[in-house]
Amino acid sequence: MKYVTLGRTGEEVSRIGFGGFPISAPNRARGWDPYTQEGRATAIRTVRRAVELGINYIDTAAAYGNGHSESIIGEAIAGRRDGLFIATKVVLGLDREGTVRSVHDSLRRLGCDHLDLIQFHGGIYTDDVTCHVLEEGPMDALLELRRQGKVRFIGATTEEPYSLLPLMRTGLLDVVQIRYNLIYQSAAHHVLDEAREQDIGVTLMRPLTSGIFQYLAGRLLPELASSADLYEACLKYVLSDSRVHVPNVGMRWPEEVEKNVRLVDEFEPPFDVAELPRGTNKVYDALDAETAQDEREHEHR
Ligand SMILES: NC(=O)c1ccc[n+]([C@@H]2O[C@H](COP(=O)([O-])OP(=O)(O)OC[C@H]3O[C@@H](n4cnc5c(N)ncnc54)[C@H](OP(=O)(O)O)[C@@H]3O)[C@@H](O)[C@H]2O)c1
Repeated sequence: MKYVTLGRTGEEVSRIGFGGFPISAPNRARGWDPYTQEGRATAIRTVRRAVELGINYIDTAAAYGNGHSESIIGEAIAGRRDGLFIATKVVLGLDREGTVRSVHDSLRRLGCDHLDLIQFHGGIYTDDVTCHVLEEGPMDALLELRRQGKVRFIGATTEEPYSLLPLMRTGLLDVVQIRYNLIYQSAAHHVLDEAREQDIGVTLMRPLTSGIFQYLAGRLLPELASSADLYEACLKYVLSDSRVHVPNVGMRWPEEVEKNVRLVDEFEPPFDVAELPRGTNKVYDALDAETAQDEREHEHR
């Protein structure tokens, strides 16, 4: 497994994280139900396989199956907590006491005496949401829990990265978890650069597009979707952006973990997505330069 320093936290974490959502959600089309005895046992084996293969970053949330994901992870890591970076979330909208209670419930389900990272579980950070976090108790609650040693780092997650900028600029966030993948590109233009400037740790939600790209491709370009591994393309894309520390990949079966770990170990990015041209003229310029280079090489042959 490859490891990376998670921004200003200074923690060495695996180059992919274990995304804890699918182990909380049945998916009949895939024959998956983590609420059956057999499904739960499989989910526990999957988490353990991830840890065995060196994945030390685990992302979950109090809201995933109302604690179901946390309780599976807690059972899977019992007696093996050392060296793991456990990140969970608290829903927005709670007051100070509710936020503290949620963190204590997460600690109990995970069987831990502290969390490495607690994140506000956000969608879009409108002005009202940001004001609520900063002025109505939630941030104070997490700062107090950090002083008590119950949590080590504070973060926030968002589906709309641009909306998180005001909260990032307070300097209070050590880590952000953002939606960024092959089809959702917004963060490439602003948040990823700013996070790098501030040395904030960057993790991703939906790095393989939660299957959305694959679903669309299956209907729009069925030949491509049946002949190419589009999950692999998505993982390679996010691994090729030097501004991203940890894509949290949702995985249900031990075989998925093995396949993704192998890919991370073997893959050397052919370019840095952070350096790719963005904007039409810049794309034209880059293609012109490549064409000129090809022509020069052709003349020399
Ligand atoms: N903060 C938030 O609001 C938020 C929101 C969404 C997600 N998240 C976090 O981000 C994590 C990742 O998001 P996600 O789980 O929605 O989606 P994802 O990681 O983009 O995609 C996960 C899906 O990809 C498939 N997959 C994974 N590895 C594969 C492989 N090697 N080959 C083929 N298929 C593979 C699996 O589906 P199949 O098993 O069906 O093949 C899996 O369920 C979540 O688990 C969660 O931790 C956070």
